[in-house]
Amino acid sequence: MRSGEKIRLGMFLRPCGHHLASWRHPEAQADAGENFEHFVRVAKTAERGLFDMLFSADTPTVFTADEDGLERSHYVAWIEPFSLLAALAPHTQNIGLVCTTSTSFEEPYSVARKFASLDIISQGRSGWNVVTTGNPIAAQNYGEEPHLPKIERYRKAREFLDVVTGLWGSWDADAFIRNRETGIFFDSRKMHELNHHGDYYHVRGPLNVPRSPQGRPIIVQAGASEEGKELAAETADVVFTAHETLESAQEFYADLKGRMSKYGRQPDDLKIMPGLFVTVAPTEDEAKKKFQILQDLIHPEIGIALIERKMGISLSGCDIDGPLPTIPPSTVLSSRVDQMVETAKRDGLTIRGLYQRFAASRGHFAIAGSPKQVADHMQLWFEKKAADGFNFMAPIFPSGLEDFVDLVVPELQKRGLFRTRYEGRMLRENLGLRLP
Ligand SMILES: Cc1cc2nc3c(=O)[nH]c(=O)nc-3n(C[C@H](O)[C@H](O)[C@H](O)COP(=O)(O)O)c2cc1C
Repeated sequence: MRSGEKIRLGMFLRPCGHHLASWRHPEAQADAGENFEHFVRVAKTAERGLFDMLFSADTPTVFTADEDGLERSHYVAWIEPFSLLAALAPHTQNIGLVCTTSTSFEEPYSVARKFASLDIISQGRSGWNVVTTGNPIAAQNYGEEPHLPKIERYRKAREFLDVVTGLWGSWDADAFIRNRETGIFFDSRKMHELNHHGDYYHVRGPLNVPRSPQGRPIIVQAGASEEGKELAAETADVVFTAHETLESAQEFYADLKGRMSKYGRQPDDLKIMPGLFVTVAPTEDEAKKKFQILQDLIHPEIGIALIERKMGISLSGCDIDGPLPTIPPSTVLSSRVDQMVETAKRDGLTIRGLYQRFAASRGHFAIAGSPKQVADHMQLWFEKKAADGFNFMAPIFPSGLEDFVDLVVPELQKRGLFRTRYEGRMLRENLGLRLP
């Protein structure tokens, strides 16, 4: 048992749902990508379920729109995540607002400004998912072709983070006096220039946004490679990750927490939250039927395109019911490719079997079951130190989230594993993290 500790929950946003075929389901909001009211409903439902945070991933590209079958994909175009979260802030009170911004394509001064501003707007609920963006096509939207190799992307990310967190320290909490009588607006001794000169960035500072309520918005990361884990151990408050077995999640958990002490950090300073794709219904049988309806909606063209995009290869001429061809090692793509190859090998999956596996949960653990079965799974991973919480992935929005909030959240609360009200106003407080 982990006495007194509670499971943390992220709500991984996607317009129509996490399942590749979700948009074709009658319960889905097919126009979600341009339907702000839909996101308001999703955010409010997640807050009703007392989730710690909303999380939006982001890759600044339309995935391989020129290939066959991709007109069937719904992962193509939707509201830019940072703008979306800022717009959702006044519609919510407690839930954290976390999104991805890439260290490969943005400038640290702009990123520091944006997340500090969102923190002020939301009264302490902002978080930044720091990614280096593994997708080489995205680089073509920023004039950087070819994309930098991973090692260098992480080196750049490390410096980027130093600059951003340094800029967030530009103002002491009591720097703004605003004394109308004396005419003194701020105390310049409480303003700090950064004067950063590094390999990639030269940034003078200070930031032209005041100190935000959390002092430092939450830093989230999802890197799985050596470089990614090292960066997370040193700098992250939350880590998202993808595991299909308890053993691999435990290994990752112990590995990452074990790296923290050399940076003077305690294991509790970092919350590890694997993705969890849940199809839940009152009975197991109903949940399995629900899931199968979605699997049957996947068109083979889009399944193949999914694998081709993830792996950066062409499968043309391959038998869909045969094995994967040999994949050459890549220094540009991410460690997730290795995970897919291993899964296919371990479970003897054909190309069709592999895309069906990844179409649902993309390498995250997937469960279809009763509320008790879902809660049992979460409890097991939490107690066995495979997770501090989960990044929940609904097959379809909004219905998959509503099912989870109505069926699983009460079961977790009954077991004393999940909050019955928010602990605080700020994301940092709800996550149980210390103020910097
Ligand atoms: C839950 C989760 C969310 C992620 N979100 C993004 C994202 O929004 N944008 C992105 O480029 N990569 C995203 N990634 C990929 C990671 O940043 C990382 O590239 C990947 O896990 C592989 O790790 P590596 O780059 O260290 O090899 C995400 C990964 C996970 C597990």
